[in-house]
Amino acid sequence: MRLLIMGPPGAGKGTQAARLSAHYGIPTVSSGDLFRAHIKAQDALGQKVSALIARGEFVPDCITTSMVFRRLLKPDIKGVGWLLDGYPRTLGQVEALDIAQAELGTRLDGVISLVADPNEVVGRMLKRAELEGRADDNEATIRRRIEVYDAETKPVLDVYRERDLVVEIDALGTVDEVFDRITGSLDAKLAAR
Ligand SMILES: Nc1ncnc2c1ncn2[C@@H]1O[C@H](COP(=O)(O)OP(=O)(O)OP(=O)(O)O)[C@@H](O)[C@H]1O
Ligand SMILES: [Mg+2]
Repeated sequence: MRLLIMGPPGAGKGTQAARLSAHYGIPTVSSGDLFRAHIKAQDALGQKVSALIARGEFVPDCITTSMVFRRLLKPDIKGVGWLLDGYPRTLGQVEALDIAQAELGTRLDGVISLVADPNEVVGRMLKRAELEGRADDNEATIRRRIEVYDAETKPVLDVYRERDLVVEIDALGTVDEVFDRITGSLDAKLAAR
């Protein structure tokens, strides 16, 4: 199974992705987590992207795509599938993933769109900042991430909507409530195809 999880910053993608991975038995690949691991390791890639990420700007497509695809070629993913969190989030990344899938003869099964008013989840993110200390969870950067999401990532959702792959999920509620909504809608969508 090959799934995407999308939604504005702070919508709870990472939390739900972990639960969905366990439920469907597919590894999650999170571009944000991959970047944070490089930044923590202070390697060449991490040094290149840390300032951009701290400002809430996107990392250029070529860097992001090569990092994500390197992960997707690891053996634990072969023949199993994946849940992608945070990729693709530009139209260029959609094209890169389309080309890769055409070459591999695979296709996307579904796209989970977590719907949340970003203004309502700013509080969640500021709380997470206290727990995890993410450099990009401060108010100015959060506002910028929301702007970039609207400009770059909303068009990605439109593309997948046209392909009839999307389930829209209300992301406000408890973790369990949101999880049950996702699996309910997704299973129905997959069964209907
Ligand atoms: N596909 C991508 N293309 C470009 N930059 C990316 C991509 N994925 C992650 N990044 C960079 O990493 C940052 C953090 O990404 P991440 O997915 O962790 O956060 P988010 O979706 O904004 O918020 P949240 O973690 O609350 O869901 C982004 O703001 C961006 O700078
Ligand atoms: Mg995340």
